[in-house]
Amino acid sequence: MPTLDPFLLEWLNILTRWGHLIAGISWIGTSFYFVALDLSLRADAPLPPGVKGEAWEVHGGGFYHVQKYLSAPANLPPHLIWFKWEAYLTWITGFLLIIVQYYAQAESYLIDPAILPLLPWQAVAISVASLAAGWLVYDLLCRSPIGRHTGVLALCVFALILAAAYGFSHVFSGRGAFIHTGAFIGTMMAANVFAVIIPNQRKITGSLLRGETPDPKYGVIGKQRSTHNTYLTLPVLFMMTSNHYAIITGHPQAWALVGLIVLGGAVARHALLRHEVGDDMHDIAWTVPVIGLALAGAMMMTEPAKSNISAAKVGDDEAFAIVQNRCTACHSATPTDATIKQAPKGIMFASVEDMKRYAAQIETQAVRNHAMPLGNKTGMTDDERAKLGAWIASLK
Ligand code: HEC
Repeated sequence: MPTLDPFLLEWLNILTRWGHLIAGISWIGTSFYFVALDLSLRADAPLPPGVKGEAWEVHGGGFYHVQKYLSAPANLPPHLIWFKWEAYLTWITGFLLIIVQYYAQAESYLIDPAILPLLPWQAVAISVASLAAGWLVYDLLCRSPIGRHTGVLALCVFALILAAAYGFSHVFSGRGAFIHTGAFIGTMMAANVFAVIIPNQRKITGSLLRGETPDPKYGVIGKQRSTHNTYLTLPVLFMMTSNHYAIITGHPQAWALVGLIVLGGAVARHALLRHEVGDDMHDIAWTVPVIGLALAGAMMMTEPAKSNISAAKVGDDEAFAIVQNRCTACHSATPTDATIKQAPKGIMFASVEDMKRYAAQIETQAVRNHAMPLGNKTGMTDDERAKLGAWIASLK
């Protein structure tokens, strides 16, 4: 990988991350809005020909009266608003962010030699190939006879995601694995829009322009894919924020944790949207224990083991020496690491006082989890982690 100036890299990172948030929020907003709108359509009153249902909504100082034509109105309206760039830009900015954060700094963020000693180009090749493969397998599943049975399809997609998480956690660093599981699902979602939903919509508008009646199957397929997308949204958001939490990304059974998050997130989506459109609490009450159990399971799984804390007494000098050896290559006023030019997150360990100030974070990052040293570039041993743990325990 060519090395970029760290200052430029940092700005590229900020801008792509900001863009990714903006696009993502817009996409999720429209996605949730339209699924909720669809669920709230009613056909109580007599409706014009071709209209399947209508909804009244109040927002922003006025009333909206929306009617859904299925599969299309008799004539193509002159001002048709398409919703696709939210999805495309979310994927594009997300992929740029992967390049800036994980490909350009693969040795720090994507590769963990203790898991698999990959060369940066190998890690990048695995990343790109797996994202593409995920979409191909998912799309085949949806198009196969399995695609006609919603329950079986959901189980297959669930298994596919678990398999991906298992695979990623055996080739990438902890946070690299989680971000890739999120990107794997996010790629399926964006490709749903790009390769299925929008092309089908175009077939429908094409028929209308030719004065033909559109085949309703195109609308049905598009609807199926956009429903999948809303169920996958909340789990993806969790994966995307996971890299801030070493207790999540450092977990050795990442795939099982992913399973609980996908289950809890998908059921939360069901509860949120169904509540939004006025379903009876009775009908959605089952979601509460399911979400609760999934989260409780995730909390139990991530509960730290006490066993890796050394029984020996460790004094300030010994703990300080460990941190000087393993951490200050990056966490100092003048880092010596090849790529880190400023103390990450402003955290420096110049004195025992500094170490005491950050004791809780040191425990989370380097004792209970292996998130630090980054990519274990400085070769910290388990024995040293246990000793730091004992030193921190002696402070309490
Ligand atoms: C190779 C460079 C490097 C080394 C060595 C290193 N760190 Fe870090 N550390 C980083 C970077 C980069 C970040 C910011 C990560 C991010 O942006 O999520 C960081 C973040 C942290 C954080 C803040 C985490 C958070 O998100 O709140 C703590 C605490 C920390 N490191 C502790 C340590 C300790 C303790 C050691 C030594 C055992 C260590 N680091 C060694 C690069 C390093």
